[in-house]
Amino acid sequence: MTKTTAAKCLLEQRVLDHLNTAVMLFGADLCLKYLNPAAEMLFQVSARHVVGLNASDVLPCPDTHVERRLKEALHSRHPFTERELNINVLDGRTMTVNCTVLPLHHFDAAPELLVELHQVDRQLRITREEHLLSQHQATQALIRGLAHEIKNPLGGLRGAAQLLERELPDPGLREYTRIIIDEADRLQGLMNRMIGPNRMPSRGRVNIHGVLEHVRGLILAEYPAGPRVLRDYDPSIPDLEADQDRLIQAFLNIARNAAAAAGPAGTVQIRTRVLRQFTIGNKRHRLVLRTDLCDNGPGIPDDIKDQIFFPMVSGHPGGTGLGLPIAQELINQHGGLIECESRPGDTRFYVYLPLEPDHE
Ligand SMILES: Nc1ncnc2c1ncn2[C@@H]1O[C@H](COP(=O)(O)OP(=O)(O)OP(=O)(O)O)[C@@H](O)[C@H]1O
Ligand SMILES: [Mg+2]
Repeated sequence: MTKTTAAKCLLEQRVLDHLNTAVMLFGADLCLKYLNPAAEMLFQVSARHVVGLNASDVLPCPDTHVERRLKEALHSRHPFTERELNINVLDGRTMTVNCTVLPLHHFDAAPELLVELHQVDRQLRITREEHLLSQHQATQALIRGLAHEIKNPLGGLRGAAQLLERELPDPGLREYTRIIIDEADRLQGLMNRMIGPNRMPSRGRVNIHGVLEHVRGLILAEYPAGPRVLRDYDPSIPDLEADQDRLIQAFLNIARNAAAAAGPAGTVQIRTRVLRQFTIGNKRHRLVLRTDLCDNGPGIPDDIKDQIFFPMVSGHPGGTGLGLPIAQELINQHGGLIECESRPGDTRFYVYLPLEPDHE
């Protein structure tokens, strides 16, 4: 290779490495020959694991026969663009992309296919998240105000019932004051949960796997007969700057629901991954931790699916419907966000937390 060709190759490599667009190159046999770092990031895979795989394994689309379209492009030599293509990513997520395929024919070399992918659901997701966050903040403010207003007279009612109890001549009547006191205590507990933690956050360096192992231990103790709680941790994840107790509370609320939904014969899976250049709400972060809590239970009932992060929304007769809004609030306090996807047999909660310290 001459010096100028080598320099040109290096330049091309640099361009491809820093491109924001995901680029893949398939050979004439439709096996993947190359993918750039943006494509690795999009699919959350490393090139080492996917180079050599067939196009239908790398780009599994439930609605389109990708392999057939690629073969047609190779033979016809015509480029094509497929819009809003749904792809099942290897880790189980689904994403929507616009896909442009360009057949490359150089003289007598075997033809190749250059594939460019632009994720289109990402913009939709960011808009939806911004909406979710602002909606959440508005409800949270309303709930806090209401809970404070209820707590004050409640203290008065309880105190008066206690005084009355002491004055009652007939001990048989104490049953009634007991009911007032017990119900006031129950309501007080509910209001306290709604208002949230009343101490200042105490942030420090927190190892996410320490938090998750703690939550796993609590779940195993609470549900000794099952479900199985499996782990798939990325050990390279750095420590977070966070309030450990609040993170435990948030993950516990999600994991409890998952364990209850999975039931004794089911499975809950906890997974951790790092995402690079990821946007939460409207803020872009260099490194984000994504923790997935998945279960194979019956899924979230359709009628409450869009409202599970609102307070008092519950699918169980005895549920208070506070677990998830509290978890969302605690994760928001860390600059993060919880999202959920659910269908029967496959419910996933994704907890996103920025990994770099928040300077704001
Ligand atoms: N993994 C899951 N699988 C199926 N449904 C779920 C799952 N997680 C949450 N849900 C549904 O979302 C509802 C709201 O959950 P949330 O934790 O906020 O309240 P809750 O569990 O009903 O009460 P609590 O305040 O005691 O947690 C649940 O009642 C349940 O119907
Ligand atoms: Mg719950």
